[in-house]
Amino acid sequence: MKIMEIEGERNLSGTIRISGAKNATVALIPAAILTDEEVTICNIPEITDTEALCDILNALKVDVKRASESIIINPEKMENIEIAESFSKKLRASYYFMGALLGKYKKAVMYFPGGCSIGARPIDLHLKGFEALGAKIQNEGNKYIVEAEELKGANIYLDIASVGATINIMLAAVKAKGKTVIDNAAKEPEIVNVATFLNNMGAKITGAGTSTIKIEGVTHLGKCFHEVIPDRIEAGTYVIIGALCGNPLKIDNIIPEHIDSLLSKLEEAGVNLEIGADYVLVQKSEKYKATSIKTAVYPGFPTDLQQPFTVLQTQCNGKSKTTETIWENRFMHIPYLKELGANIEVKNQTATIIGPSKLKGCEVVATDLRAGAAMVAAALTAEGKTTITNVEHILRGYEQIVEKLTNVGAKIRIKEI
Ligand code: UD1
Repeated sequence: MKIMEIEGERNLSGTIRISGAKNATVALIPAAILTDEEVTICNIPEITDTEALCDILNALKVDVKRASESIIINPEKMENIEIAESFSKKLRASYYFMGALLGKYKKAVMYFPGGCSIGARPIDLHLKGFEALGAKIQNEGNKYIVEAEELKGANIYLDIASVGATINIMLAAVKAKGKTVIDNAAKEPEIVNVATFLNNMGAKITGAGTSTIKIEGVTHLGKCFHEVIPDRIEAGTYVIIGALCGNPLKIDNIIPEHIDSLLSKLEEAGVNLEIGADYVLVQKSEKYKATSIKTAVYPGFPTDLQQPFTVLQTQCNGKSKTTETIWENRFMHIPYLKELGANIEVKNQTATIIGPSKLKGCEVVATDLRAGAAMVAAALTAEGKTTITNVEHILRGYEQIVEKLTNVGAKIRIKEI
């Protein structure tokens, strides 16, 4: 087991370069199997979710080569083999192989995906989308057999603007016969990045980034070169850390527009920001105003930044509220923030935070990926040493977090115990 030790209350200054987006990468890698030719994707983050997807590619006999920050995928000799549960349960995004295999072979056999325990996380909308395209679904316990004689374009309305369902339906529909329209589609930048990749391969997708996506089916997808967008959640996490400890901290290689909702909320709290074309410079200030947030689908305040943001709220003067509307179980970090000294009450889906509170280091747990990021932000702010257990969650999504924070002056290390 790995633990992380952090000595807090240090000023952080310098530059943190943001890596490629995890949530785009985890869809792009499965999407790459839709061709039979070689594709190169650059700006791939070195995180354990990337490794887990490469393991699935290897199991499917896809040729995978890794170079620095790039991946070269050649599915010429791939076979449509059942994906074992030991692979699918390692991460949520393994479900993108369902759409990609269905789109390519009209058949996918795999198990229910894993991922953070932040809510029920059903996949009913994905499956309904596949059915609308002509697939039949058999379900034996955790195992799903999704099969179609023919995939035909359809009009699909998503009851919830789900990121996963939008991408998975796109993957299944790119080679379907005729036109597919996804209404109430999710609009996250990662969806645009995946649609651009598929279009570079020869797909005909329009409207990605709006709530109506149109896909004209094609018979062939070819080789291409593609770049992953910067990770807006990693960027947002470090901007929040900058607001807590920056002196100043430059968060570089980002698309600031992708974190507009966060930047507006930080400005409302009184955080000192300089927003450039591809960076944000953030300087800690002594006094912050209480600021409330409510998570929403993009371009609303991202649920994935809610947990790190609550750490900043512990340092704001007065009563702040955080309301979580996407996941029903995303306050698991709160008991640990309270152990660190925060004053927080959770009622239903709202946390009320009264600040400012002096945080003091202790032993805490990274219960999930973004809860782990919140623990890192809190530990950097707290007096003394904080030990975080279950750091495997953090390493699923933050590339070289120890190196990046050490380079700007943090005292942080990971120990194997
Ligand atoms: C993705 C992100 C995750 C982020 C989330 C919301 C990836 C790998 N993960 O997760 O980091 O927190 O978007 O921005 O990109 N739902 C259903 N039925 C379905 C699918 C979803 O009811 O078939 C519900 C979910 O329970 C949830 C909501 O829809 O309440 C949003 O989920 P969704 O957008 O699908 O999240 P993910 O794609 O799993």
